[in-house]
Amino acid sequence: MRAIQLTAPGTLELVDVPTPKPGPGEILLATAAVGACHSDLHILDAPAGVFPTPMTIGHEIAGRVAQLGPGVTGWAEGDTAAVYGIIGCGRCRACLRGLENQCRTVPVGGVGISRDGGLADHVVVPADRLLPLGGLDPVQAAPLTDAGLTPYHAISLSRDALRPGTHAVVIGVGGLGHMAVQILAVTTAVTIIAVDTSDAALRLAKRMGAHHTVQAGPAAVDQIRELTGPAPDGADVVLDFVCVDATLDTARQVVSTGGHLTMVGLGGGTLRIAATVEGPPPVPMETTAVIPFWGTRAELTEVIALGRQGLLRAEVQTFPLTEAVQAYQQLRDGKIHGRAVLVP
Ligand SMILES: NC(=O)c1ccc[n+]([C@@H]2O[C@H](COP(=O)([O-])OP(=O)(O)OC[C@H]3O[C@@H](n4cnc5c(N)ncnc54)[C@H](O)[C@@H]3O)[C@@H](O)[C@H]2O)c1
Ligand SMILES: [Zn+2]
Ligand SMILES: [Zn+2]
Repeated sequence: MRAIQLTAPGTLELVDVPTPKPGPGEILLATAAVGACHSDLHILDAPAGVFPTPMTIGHEIAGRVAQLGPGVTGWAEGDTAAVYGIIGCGRCRACLRGLENQCRTVPVGGVGISRDGGLADHVVVPADRLLPLGGLDPVQAAPLTDAGLTPYHAISLSRDALRPGTHAVVIGVGGLGHMAVQILAVTTAVTIIAVDTSDAALRLAKRMGAHHTVQAGPAAVDQIRELTGPAPDGADVVLDFVCVDATLDTARQVVSTGGHLTMVGLGGGTLRIAATVEGPPPVPMETTAVIPFWGTRAELTEVIALGRQGLLRAEVQTFPLTEAVQAYQQLRDGKIHGRAVLVP
C-alpha cells in the first residue's frame, strides 16, 4: 500500500509498504480522509531520535473498517469510524478517569506520532480507539478528531469562565483556531475576538462566528483592549494556537486578572510568568495558565455530535494522497485556509 512516511528527520516520502495486519483486539481501517496538522510539521522538523523512523504520519483519521483482528466484536466490515488517536495505558489513575491525554505511564504519543498513522491506504488501530461516524462525511470527520477535539477540550477547561458578557480571544485562526471560533460561537455567549497575521484567516474567522477580528502585530494589544476594556479587566479567556514569543506577549497583555491563558500551539515561545513587587506582574495576578493536550474520548463523541448536527464544520481543502508532501508545503507557507485533508 502507499504511505507517507517520515523516513529521516526533515524528510517526508511517498513509499510503498506492506499492508499491515490487525493483531488481537485491533482493526484494519481503510483510510478515507486524513487531516494535515501543523504538528506534523513540528514532527518533520524535530531532531533525530524524537520520533521513530520510518513512521507513517497522520493523526486525524476517518475511514472504513476493512478487517477485524482476532477477538474484536461490535464492528463490521464497511462501518465508518473516526480514530481517537491517543493510546494511554488504560490502567493509571488518569486513564481510569477517562483522561488518557494525561496518562501517567505512557509518554505523550499516539497514532501517527509514536506509531504508524493514517496517511496511507490502511492503518491498524486498537478497536477501542474507533468511534462511529453515524453518517458523517469522513472528510468532515477527520479534522474533528484533532482540529475539533483539541480546541473543544481547551475550551471545556475554561467553561466556567466563558460567561455571557465576557470576551474570549483566539490567536491563530488556522486548522484548530477556526474550529475554536465555531465551538465558542455555538457553545457560549461570549464575545469572540480573533487574531491572525493573515487577512484570509481573519475573513474565515468572521464567517465562523468571530465578532471582531484584529490583525496580529504591534497595534493588536491596544485594539483588543479597546474591545475588552483596560487592565485589570480584559479577556477572560485567551486561547493561543501559535505560542511563539510574539503571540504569548499579546496573550499576557490582554488576559484579565483572574483570566485563563490557554497555550495550545507548540511554537516554543517563552512566557515570563513570575511576579515581583516592583511593578505590574508580566501576567495578571490570579491568572490560570493551561497547556492542554488533545482531548478525551468522551469529548470526541461530543465533537462528533456537533459535527452531525451541522454546528461544527471544518473548512477543508482536499488533496489526493500523492500530493501530501505539497499539501504540507502549502501549510508551512500559510496557504491553507482551514484544514488540508488528504483523501487516499
Ligand atoms: N496542544 C495540542 O494538543 C495540540 C494539538 C494539535 C495542534 N497543536 C499545535 O497547535 C498549533 C496550531 O496548529 P494548526 O494545525 O491549527 O496550524 P495552522 O498552520 O493551520 O494555523 C496556524 C495559524 O496561526 C497563524 N499565525 C502564525 N503566526 C502567527 C502570529 N505570529 N500571530 C498570529 N497568528 C499567527 C497562521 O496565519 C495560521 O492561520 C501548532 O503549533 C500545532 O502543533 C497542539
Ligand atoms: Zn494535530
Ligand atoms: Zn494511563
